[in-house]
Amino acid sequence: MTRTVYLNGDYLPEHEAKVSVFDRGFLMADGVYEVTSVLDGKLIDFAGHCVRLARSLGELEMKNPHTDAEWLAIHRELVARNGVTEGMVYLQVTRGNPGDRDFAYPTPETEPTVVLFTQSKPGLADNPLAKTGMKVISIPDLRWARRDIKTVQLLYPSMGKMAAKKAGVDDSWFVEDGVVTEGTSNNAYIVKGNRIITRQLSHDILHGITRAAVLRFATEAQMEVEERPFTIAEAQAADEAFISSASAFVMPVVEVDGKSVGTGKPGHIVARLREIYLDEMRRAAV
Ligand code: PDD
Repeated sequence: MTRTVYLNGDYLPEHEAKVSVFDRGFLMADGVYEVTSVLDGKLIDFAGHCVRLARSLGELEMKNPHTDAEWLAIHRELVARNGVTEGMVYLQVTRGNPGDRDFAYPTPETEPTVVLFTQSKPGLADNPLAKTGMKVISIPDLRWARRDIKTVQLLYPSMGKMAAKKAGVDDSWFVEDGVVTEGTSNNAYIVKGNRIITRQLSHDILHGITRAAVLRFATEAQMEVEERPFTIAEAQAADEAFISSASAFVMPVVEVDGKSVGTGKPGHIVARLREIYLDEMRRAAV
């Protein structure tokens, strides 16, 4: 089946969707994105992704081309047209095509380029990694200083994934000033006793939509939440560790820089958080 993608108001077969070589997303990485998971054919935490999208656009002085209701309708139409029951919807808004290359922003009348596509991932919620846990290495955080804006500048995170691949592990955690910022495409946590520790929100990390939900559920489940940075040594000495993202949900981390975390196997706190997250989010999906 040919995938149907969305481009600037049209639903098109993927090979017919074309964007200009002068698009600022292509030339300048001048754009923002969101990834929303689909479970049971429904969107997970859609409202949260809309709020962050609006914020990212605002921080870059870009207009939001759609209302939340319009975004929802486009997401649903794509999910339906592509028959997605488990997977993701990728959304990208760039500053469009000014017709030439120029560092200065084009006039505000320049239409943004709006692209959405689906990725079908049967078994997304049953990812076997949740049973075995992930291994991570640490690398320096060499990204820009506004990581709270979800821009399409993903070269350094891609380099982080490649460094992990070359090291035979699953992902990299970024370290800055001796403490962990986040993972290449996820937020990072450690668990000590009944306490969940994760870095506080600032310009240094992406304000994960999954993170917000996980911390809410942790508090509701009588776990303690401490928002502060932690070191790699602390992670290695923790009882459990994990990451969160829209596509991985809650995923245990069992090894950091070659050292086992806790028993070296996924622990019960992370397993419980993953279960609560998936149950609650399926229930609230739209
Ligand atoms: N990544 N931190 C970074 C750097 C991320 O790229 C992501 C998401 C997160 C988690 O945010 P959320 O819970 O809202 O997905 C944290 C997405 C999934 C991606 O790039 O594919």
